[in-house]
Amino acid sequence: MSGMLEGNVALITGAASGIGRATALTLARDGSAIVVADLNESGGSATVDAITAAGGWAIFVQADVTRDAERMVEAAVQTFGHLDILVNNAGIFYTADLLDVPFDEWVRAVDVMYFGTFRCSQAAARQMVRQGTGGRIVNISSVNGFLGMPQSSHYNSAKGAIDQLTRCLAVELAPHGILVNGIAPGFVETPMAIVNGVNEHETPEFQEFYVRRRRIPLARPALPEEIAEAVAFLVSPRCTYITGHTLVVDGGLSI
Ligand code: NAI
Repeated sequence: MSGMLEGNVALITGAASGIGRATALTLARDGSAIVVADLNESGGSATVDAITAAGGWAIFVQADVTRDAERMVEAAVQTFGHLDILVNNAGIFYTADLLDVPFDEWVRAVDVMYFGTFRCSQAAARQMVRQGTGGRIVNISSVNGFLGMPQSSHYNSAKGAIDQLTRCLAVELAPHGILVNGIAPGFVETPMAIVNGVNEHETPEFQEFYVRRRRIPLARPALPEEIAEAVAFLVSPRCTYITGHTLVVDGGLSI
């Protein structure tokens, strides 16, 4: 494939599903080789198959962002020779009341999303600094990171911390030509929206409040591809003077 990202290698965590998968396909469309990193082997292999079927380059690495950051980066370098882009996307969501949520569940949310973003960013940035050719990091957070929301204090806190990490990484890595930004999606149509077998976006309550009453001004959840296009811009040569910013992609939900 040829395009704006030709010659780049991108590592995308959580790329077996949803936003990560859409981002992998979009960056591959733009010419980047892709390292699909995820716990989920069948989903990850399906993402790789879709990329290669479209004429792109990709490998799957079965990996956990809480343990395997260095191994993901090594896989990129061993297979493709370098690493230019990291998208920290892996995430988990579940609802739990503040009064009930066990401490271990809180720790798990922070471990996967916040520490996972730190670990992968550190491993990738070390490689990018060694290469001396700059790079891009995009952290997927959420509007929940800056809005107060019920039943998700663990998730929201982890996402808010990611936005602060984005700013700090941007400052420290700027001298190396590495731009670090974030994306804060609102509601997105992915398997994450399915809770106990029910797509939350299809419930009468969601449809009434967010769609009919236009609490989301654009009156629908995003498609994962709409988040992926924002990532594609932030990692592209068109984006040269934005760093430390978290771009809200929420159809106006948080206005
Ligand atoms: P998803 O559930 O479709 O995909 C998440 C992927 O992350 C899965 O493939 C899963 O296997 C992987 N994953 C989970 N824990 C992992 C770990 N420890 N190591 C490696 N991979 C792991 O979810 P979706 O919606 O695509 O979410 C992607 C990101 O977008 C997440 O960070 C999520 O918090 C964020 N987000 C999603 C929104 C939505 O409405 N779907 C809204 C705002 C943010």
